[in-house]
Amino acid sequence: MMLAPVCLMITAAATLSIHPGRSVFFYYETVTLSCAVPGSFSSWTMKRNTSTKSSVSCETWGQLNGSSCIIKGVYPSDSGVYWCESDRGECSNTINIRVTTGVILESPAVPLTEGDSVTLNCSYKEKYAKESTSNFSTAFYRNGAFIGKRSEGRLMLIHVSKEDEGFYKCEHPTKGESPENWLEVRAAATLSIHPGKSVFFYYETVTLSCAVPGSFSSWTMKRNTSTKSSVSCETWGQLNGSSCIIKGVYPSDSGVYWCESDRGECSNTINIRVTTGVILESPAVPLTEGDSVTLNCSYKEKYAKGSTSNFSTAFYRNGAFIGKRSEGRLRLIHVSKEDEGFYKCEHPTKGESPENWLEVRGDDDDHDVAAATLSIHPGKSVFFYYETVTLSCAVPGSFSSWTMKRNTSTKSSVSCETWGQLNGSSCIIKGVYPSDSGVYWCESDRGSAATPSTSE
Ligand SMILES: *[C@@H]1O[C@H](CO)[C@@H](O)[C@H](O)[C@H]1NC(C)=O
Ligand SMILES: *[C@@H]1O[C@H](CO)[C@@H](O)[C@H](O)[C@H]1NC(C)=O
Ligand SMILES: *[C@@H]1O[C@H](CO)[C@@H](O)[C@H](O)[C@H]1NC(C)=O
Ligand SMILES: *[C@@H]1O[C@H](CO)[C@@H](O)[C@H](O)[C@H]1NC(C)=O
Ligand SMILES: *[C@@H]1O[C@H](CO)[C@@H](O)[C@H](O)[C@H]1NC(C)=O
Ligand SMILES: *[C@@H]1O[C@H](CO)[C@@H](O)[C@H](O)[C@H]1NC(C)=O
Ligand SMILES: *[C@@H]1O[C@H](CO)[C@@H](O)[C@H](O)[C@H]1NC(C)=O
Ligand SMILES: *[C@@H]1O[C@H](CO)[C@@H](O)[C@H](O)[C@H]1NC(C)=O
Ligand SMILES: *[C@@H]1O[C@H](CO)[C@@H](O)[C@H](O)[C@H]1NC(C)=O
Ligand SMILES: *[C@@H]1O[C@H](CO)[C@@H](O)[C@H](O)[C@H]1NC(C)=O
Repeated sequence: MMLAPVCLMITAAATLSIHPGRSVFFYYETVTLSCAVPGSFSSWTMKRNTSTKSSVSCETWGQLNGSSCIIKGVYPSDSGVYWCESDRGECSNTINIRVTTGVILESPAVPLTEGDSVTLNCSYKEKYAKESTSNFSTAFYRNGAFIGKRSEGRLMLIHVSKEDEGFYKCEHPTKGESPENWLEVRAAATLSIHPGKSVFFYYETVTLSCAVPGSFSSWTMKRNTSTKSSVSCETWGQLNGSSCIIKGVYPSDSGVYWCESDRGECSNTINIRVTTGVILESPAVPLTEGDSVTLNCSYKEKYAKGSTSNFSTAFYRNGAFIGKRSEGRLRLIHVSKEDEGFYKCEHPTKGESPENWLEVRGDDDDHDVAAATLSIHPGKSVFFYYETVTLSCAVPGSFSSWTMKRNTSTKSSVSCETWGQLNGSSCIIKGVYPSDSGVYWCESDRGSAATPSTSE
């Protein structure tokens, strides 16, 4: 009996990458595919499927160099799906390549992770031209909807989220549209801790939980302590689903914890310290500007059952005294970047706690929103027929990543180009009509809106 070869996607430990890091190429570009495998590459092969042939290895279509395969000068016949495969039928991720001419959108060949930033390039090249160009006014679309115009063919997506996923295309002013590319955004893995602090007393129960994209089965929770590196939950805790529970922590549990996938992807890390005496309980994960938090100064003797915060306490930030409390609680309301620093507390007789780093992350989006302002000239909201109205948008940085939009009774989210005349960061309506009544705003690539203004 003859069995058809089956490529099983089991150990995803092999990773195929591509250089340049995109999925659409022009004729004659040089493309390098590289395969990172566990152990030696000798039992692995790089393969591809094209429209005409299946499962053909590098030797026949590229130049093998170590664990890389180089195609010097791609043709449309190189369009297809590429992967690495072991003798045992294990497979890497796959990468799709398309070779074309005309207008293309350069987008990443591998999925992005939430929080990544990327520049999508709209490029144009005639078949026999030497170089491609992106130096033309370009309109970008996601899922068929217009998302913005740029004077050069570059669209920057900063800190992508799941909502940025979709089919993207771009449009050259005279040469037409690019084919659509799928931009995939994967959720990031997140490690959280309960109770939500970073310093613990002896014998406390600590639960670490890992939220991952997809199934937890290909993930492991790990830790580094002062004595051992990269040890998984099974040896130091009790695994329960995607959580790891330590029942009764000891100083030897002090260390850095994280989740890691078979493919080497990692979550955020959390530091834990286990001690006795005076401690400052502060959050284990960074705060975001605007959050509120209570820092607790607690004291516990090694063999005592409970800890107490019922004592007069002095608090310090970066070594400077910031206040005294009759109970060991310091409430920080709506933290800002200035609240970041090393905090410690002092018990009246038992001494000081170790210092804890309190991290406060800025929210770039909020800054954009606060800083972008839409103004109107003349400065009123009700106009007569045929008056000229100028709307101006003051934004942080360059206006190129911003669009002025409006909602009217008939159409939503329409940008200036279709109802006004764009001049720098202003949009002029020469002779308003009742159909211009509506709400106007400025919006960035990332969707943050400036203060809307209404006009009737
Ligand atoms: C390659 O082609 C073969 C035969 O058509 C098919 O069985 C296989 O699933 C394809 N592999 C990929 C990764 O698309
Ligand atoms: C093969 O790879 C090595 C090291 O990565 C590099 O120095 C060399 O130039 C490559 N050879 C070719 C033909 O590209
Ligand atoms: C777009 O072009 C910029 C500048 O040349 C480059 O750094 C970036 O990697 C390109 N993006 C893609 C997806 O190829
Ligand atoms: C882009 O094109 C404009 C007008 O065609 C030209 O003035 C400018 O120098 C070009 N910029 C680059 C970087 O090639
Ligand atoms: C854990 O320890 C290993 C070996 O010392 C090191 O390579 C790795 O970066 C450490 N991981 C973290 C998250 O600190
Ligand atoms: C494991 O998790 C489940 C649900 O999350 C919970 O009901 C159960 O008590 C946990 N088991 C242990 C031993 O903590
Ligand atoms: C401090 O104590 C309060 C009340 O017990 C609790 O709600 C809060 O989460 C504690 N703060 C930290 C950082 O553990
Ligand atoms: C805190 O301590 C004071 C004096 O030692 C005592 O009167 C008070 O009841 C204590 N409060 C709590 C909540 O334990
Ligand atoms: C514009 O209309 C869309 C669709 O109805 C709506 O989601 C959006 O909130 C509106 N924007 C404003 C600023 O009113
Ligand atoms: C565009 O703006 C410039 C400077 O703000 C101004 O001098 C010019 O007249 C404006 N163009 C139009 C068509 O209004």
